[in-house]
Amino acid sequence: MARQPHVVRTLPALRRAVARLRQTQQTIALVPTMGALHQGHLSLVRLARQRKRKVIVSIFVNPAQFAPTEDLASYPRDLDADLAALAGSGADLAWVPASETMYPPGFATRIVPGGPASVDLEDKFRPHFFAGVATVVTKLFLQCRPDIAIFGEKDYQQLKVIRSLATDLDLPIEILGAPIVRASDGLAMSSRNAYLSAAERTVAPTLYRVLKGCAEKIAGGAELAPVIAQGRAAIERAGFALDYLEARNADTLRPIGSAQDGPIRLLVAARLGHTRLIDNVGV
Ligand code: PAJ
Repeated sequence: MARQPHVVRTLPALRRAVARLRQTQQTIALVPTMGALHQGHLSLVRLARQRKRKVIVSIFVNPAQFAPTEDLASYPRDLDADLAALAGSGADLAWVPASETMYPPGFATRIVPGGPASVDLEDKFRPHFFAGVATVVTKLFLQCRPDIAIFGEKDYQQLKVIRSLATDLDLPIEILGAPIVRASDGLAMSSRNAYLSAAERTVAPTLYRVLKGCAEKIAGGAELAPVIAQGRAAIERAGFALDYLEARNADTLRPIGSAQDGPIRLLVAARLGHTRLIDNVGV
């Protein structure tokens, strides 16, 4: 059986493990996750392994990035399955802190990002989200002291926010983005796909189909506004409650008037029953 990563649950143990790696000049790649690992996460781990000597995967369902109305309590958690999934993936160490380790009594500091974290995409629908992400990711960086950290383009706005965080705080960490891993029908892999009923699962790939259709039309010279309006209508017709479908500047995430303001990224978030899905494609 392939070897599972070494599990570390306390800060002193993590600090000892990281210090040992640093002393022996081993480079470290960090892959932050909330567990419920799937092929998307594992692609990040493989990339990490290609880039650095040692790979730390953090598994922590971060309460600070969930609103009280969101799915913190029901978020899928199965550490044994995650460790089995990581066996043979190249992960050396799984950092699995308890909530009280990350947020002990008296914890009172938050990193509140601006720039790409305030462009009326995810931030409009989840106003608490990026401060929760930025705070926990900053802690993970300081705890694990990686040379590189890898994030998926699946969460495109999050990737931009983390890049800006690392630049603004002069963190000596290279941030690497990794392409989206999809199921064979195009649905972007996500831990939250586990919430979908069988009927919803057959509808879910519509999101990617619509994104791709819009991207092809825009690349072919069609005007942005009508293409996006048709895309929104198609998503709603399929049975989704749409939060947004937007064409944005791929670098700044700011709104654009025409394809000349590109490079363009199309980003979508929509709810199918109780499940909220996000996806994006480049044009
Ligand atoms: P989580 O949703 O578990 O995702 C962990 C990492 O895996 C993120 O960088 C995400 O973009 C990437 N990922 C998820 N699905 C992917 C897919 N289909 N293809 C490629 N990469 C994918 O994102 C978070 O956790 C949290 O916000 C976190 C950064 C860990 C902070 O708590």
